[in-house]
Parts: sequence; C-alpha cells; structure tokens
Amino acid sequence: MEGIRQRGRVPAFGGKSRDTKSARPSLYAVVGATAVPAAANVGTVYLVGAGPGNPDLLTLRAAKVIALGDVIVYDRLVGAGIMALARPGTQRIYVGKARSNHTLPQDGISALLVRLALEGKQVVRLKGGDPFVFGRGGEEAELLAAHGIPFEVVPGITAANGIAAYAGIPLTHRDYAHAVTLVTGHLHDGTMDLDWAALARPRQTVVVYMGLLGLPILCHELIVHGLPATTPAAIVQQGTTAQQRVVVGTLADLPGRAFDARLLPPTLIIVGEVVRLRDKLGWFEPEASAAVARSAARGVAD
Ligand SMILES: C[S@@+](CC[C@H](N)C(=O)[O-])C[C@H]1O[C@@H](n2cnc3c(N)ncnc32)[C@H](O)[C@@H]1O
Repeated sequence: MEGIRQRGRVPAFGGKSRDTKSARPSLYAVVGATAVPAAANVGTVYLVGAGPGNPDLLTLRAAKVIALGDVIVYDRLVGAGIMALARPGTQRIYVGKARSNHTLPQDGISALLVRLALEGKQVVRLKGGDPFVFGRGGEEAELLAAHGIPFEVVPGITAANGIAAYAGIPLTHRDYAHAVTLVTGHLHDGTMDLDWAALARPRQTVVVYMGLLGLPILCHELIVHGLPATTPAAIVQQGTTAQQRVVVGTLADLPGRAFDARLLPPTLIIVGEVVRLRDKLGWFEPEASAAVARSAARGVAD
C-alpha cells in the first residue's frame, strides 16, 4: 500500500519536474508542480474545486490547471464562465449528475479518470465547490491511489462558505454560534437519515446541502428535537451568482416560503441564529433576488 501511495504522490511545489513527456509543454513545468508520473505516459489527474458558481471565486491554481489540461471531466454545477478558461482544443466530457439523471454512474466516472490518465492525458476532474465536501473527491482519489495514478487535489470554495458570504450570513459569530455542521439533506426512501439530537443543539449553525426536497422534514425534525420554531433559517438558490435568490424565515415557516418562491436546485439551507445578521450584513443583491423581494412584498409568488 505504501508503494502505491508513493507512486501516486504529487510532491509539493518547488522541486524539479521529472515529466518524461517532451512533445508538448509539460503541465507540471508550466503550472509549477512537480508531479512524478508512475511511469512514462501516465498522466496526472487534478481533482479541482470550481467553487460555488461565480467564476471570480475560482482559485488561481484551479484556473492554471484548467487552462493546461488535455481533457476536462466536469459536473453539472460547473458554470460556462469556468469552462471558458479551457484551451479551445481541450476535450470536454460531461458527467454531470442531476438528482434523477445519472449521466455516468460514480464507478464509471472513477474508471474513466483512470483510463484517461493511463492514456497519458493530463486530466482535470472539475467539480462544483470543493472536491472533498460532498463531492465524491475522496472516492475518486482512492481509486486513483489504488491504481498508482498521480493526482493532485485543488481545493475550492465550498457552497457553505461561498453562499454564506454572499448571503451576508457569517457561519460563526461569537454572540450566536461557535460551531458549524455541514450535512447532506438528500432523501433516502422519503426520509433523512441525520443525527437530529446533535443538529438541534443550540449555538451552532447547521448548513444543509441538497436539502430542498426534504426542507419540510428538516424543519419539522429540528423542532421536534428541541430547536425553537422561531429559529431563523434561510434557503439560498444559485448562491454567489447573478441569479442568487435568498428566502429567509423561521423553522416554522421556511418550507412554505420556499414553496411560494418556487425555488429550484441548487439550493443551500442555513439554520441558526446567525441568519438574523443578514438584515445588517446582506451586501449582495442581484436583480433576481430583488425581484423575489418585490414579489414577496406584493404577497405574490415570483
Ligand atoms: C453534490 S453537492 C456538491 C457540493 C460541492 N462539492 C461543494 O463543496 O459545494 C451539490 C449541492 O451543493 C449545494 N450548492 C452548490 N452550489 C450551490 C449554489 N451556487 N447555490 C446553492 N447551493 C449550492 C447544493 O445544495 C447542491 O445540491
């Protein structure tokens, strides 16, 4: 196992590149990494976080890697603005997953990454947010490691902190929350398998990914397990982008408000006293969000 890890490792910046491919500019040399392929003609896989949707929130490292990869294997939540950073001739493979529409199953995606790397390609596996937060980056990295494929993880801004910032909701605050918990609200057989007692503890912020369908269950269970029905909560659609829409309420009324606003995925839910701060700290008001506010004021769903 140790041998496999050694072969698959991409050392830190600064050393000499031992890339054996000389026909085209070495990705490693140009972007400054010193990846050591397991063997000649084996490419590296870059597991890259694309951030929460706004292209300006991409890291410099991600932009460099995207611009130099041979092939980009990308997900549904990766925006056109980010894909535009790829070179014109770059091969693009869409493997996006909507809830009920699996373009390529996860095993197939992981196997595809291995195959492309064994063909000698520099592979950019581009995912929304951060690859290691509800992104299956860990599973893909495990398979790459098992096959001795060199890989690098390029972190991205995960939805929780990108969207909290753009919604004017600090995830922690000395007066309101000293912990943050990230959970997935994905429904399994119509229920959510979460540790409700832990989530209902006071003085924490709970951030729920993939929770739109389960929002009524989420709010109900948190109340049943002890949080006041008046606990502030927000749901944000397409956060950080020009299409951002924010609906704020309490555990008691957020499901109804979200339904009236006809929100669509992707959405992120934030529960906790910190949500109150949005009144003071909300700084990003794109046109779509302003339209929702106007409709709500008229008492009409947008
Ligand atoms: C499969 S998870 C991937 C999370 C990603 N790896 C991350 O770190 O943000 C996708 C979920 O992230 C959340 N999400 C991602 N981008 C979002 C955005 N711009 N606005 C709201 N929610 C978003 C939604 O809950 C969406 O269903």
